[in-house]
This record gives sequence, structure tokens and C-alpha cells, in this order.
Amino acid sequence: MIFGKRVRLRAVTREDIPRFVEWLNDPEVIEGLVIYLPFSMEDETRWFDGLASRPPEERPLAIDIRAGEDWTHIGSCGFHEFNWRHRSAEIGIAIGNKEFWNQGFGTETVRLMLRHGFDTFNLNRVFLRVYEMNRRAVRSYEKAGLTLEGRLRQARYHNGKYYDELIMGILRSEWDAAGKED
Ligand SMILES: CC(C)(COP(=O)(O)OP(=O)(O)OC[C@H]1O[C@@H](n2cnc3c(N)ncnc32)[C@H](O)[C@@H]1OP(=O)(O)O)[C@@H](O)C(=O)NCCC(=O)NCCS
Repeated sequence: MIFGKRVRLRAVTREDIPRFVEWLNDPEVIEGLVIYLPFSMEDETRWFDGLASRPPEERPLAIDIRAGEDWTHIGSCGFHEFNWRHRSAEIGIAIGNKEFWNQGFGTETVRLMLRHGFDTFNLNRVFLRVYEMNRRAVRSYEKAGLTLEGRLRQARYHNGKYYDELIMGILRSEWDAAGKED
């Protein structure tokens, strides 16, 4: 497991599936995600069963936060698009339990993932994609140390309008310079 101050990242288990189904059917949660169609237990179970055949470093991680002596599952995150020659990878995150938005858990999780990316995977660059209208996400990524690298114009259609998709990233040199307090 990967431990931060208030957050830990662990392997996703079959018991997490019902929570994912609930979260991925919540329009507010998926507003900033690529998913836009209803999701069933069968869909999610098929996705879970497929994880075993994915490269271990690309398997998603559950986000747990401390709840007294115990831990509460609030979302998930993961790495994908690894390019080992260029030493870069993309990250993604979703806190599905909305009670825990805006409390810094997203920022802490991204920082933990960056530490994992740079220290464990020995990456040189970590990046992500975010829809420009997802202001909470953009702010959280800025706080975690990522900067705007590019803009894919009108890359997303949502409710009758087109929105830009932003590419944000951080280099290892920037991460080293900023300190690793998490
Ligand atoms: C995006 C997400 C990971 C952020 O995590 P979080 O724990 O809610 O975010 P944090 O508390 O770390 O930081 C949020 C920041 O955005 C700010 N914020 C919230 N709503 C905002 C808005 N509408 N406009 C501008 N800033 C906003 C908060 O005030 C806070 O900044 P501050 O600390 O400077 O005040 C989480 O909300 C989430 O998973 N949302 C649903 C799924 C999703 O959109 N995933 C991202 C896909 S790219």
C-alpha cells in the first residue's frame, strides 16, 4: 500500500464494485469524467475481471481515508499510457463520494501518485487530461504542482456545448525542486 498523511492507496477489490457502480451512475461525479452512459453491476464486474490481464502498474488503486482506527473508501485513481522509453505516464483520479470533495483529499492523492510515479516507477514526466469546465479538478492539480501544458480545443461535447480539454503535467525536476513533503 502507498501511505500518505490522511490517504492510502491500495489495490481495488471485488468488494469495491458496488460503490463504483453507485458513484459512476451519479451525474455530478461523472460530469468531469469520460464516462457518460449508465453503468451496471455487470459492466463493472466485467471491468474488474479484466484487471488481472492488465500490466500490474496500470491496475487502478482505491483511495481510502482515515476514519478513526479504520479506513473509508472514497474513490479511485490510476496510471496509464506508460511510455518507458520517454519515461512518462498519464494519471487519472475520481473521488466518488461527494461528501469528501473540497477537503484536500484529491490534492493529497495526486501528490501521492506523483511520489509513486517519480520514486517507484522512475518516471520523468507525469501528465493528465482534464476538461476546462472542471474547475475543482484544475485547481486541485495546480495545488499538487502540475501546470498547464496544452489545450485541445472543443475536444469535449457535453449538454449542447463544446469544451476544451486541458493537458496538465509535471516534470521530475519540478517535483524535486518543490519538495516531497507528502
Ligand atoms: C477533481 C477531484 C479529484 C478534486 O479533489 P478534491 O479533494 O475535491 O479537491 P481539493 O479539495 O484537493 O481541491 C479543490 C480546490 O478547488 C477549489 N474549487 C472547488 N470548486 C471550485 C470551482 N467551481 N471553481 C474554482 N475552484 C474550485 C477548492 O476551493 C479547492 O481549492 P483551495 O484549496 O485553493 O480552496 C474530486 O473533486 C473528484 O474526483 N471529482 C469528481 C470526478 C472528477 O472530476 N475527476 C477528475 C477528472 S479529470
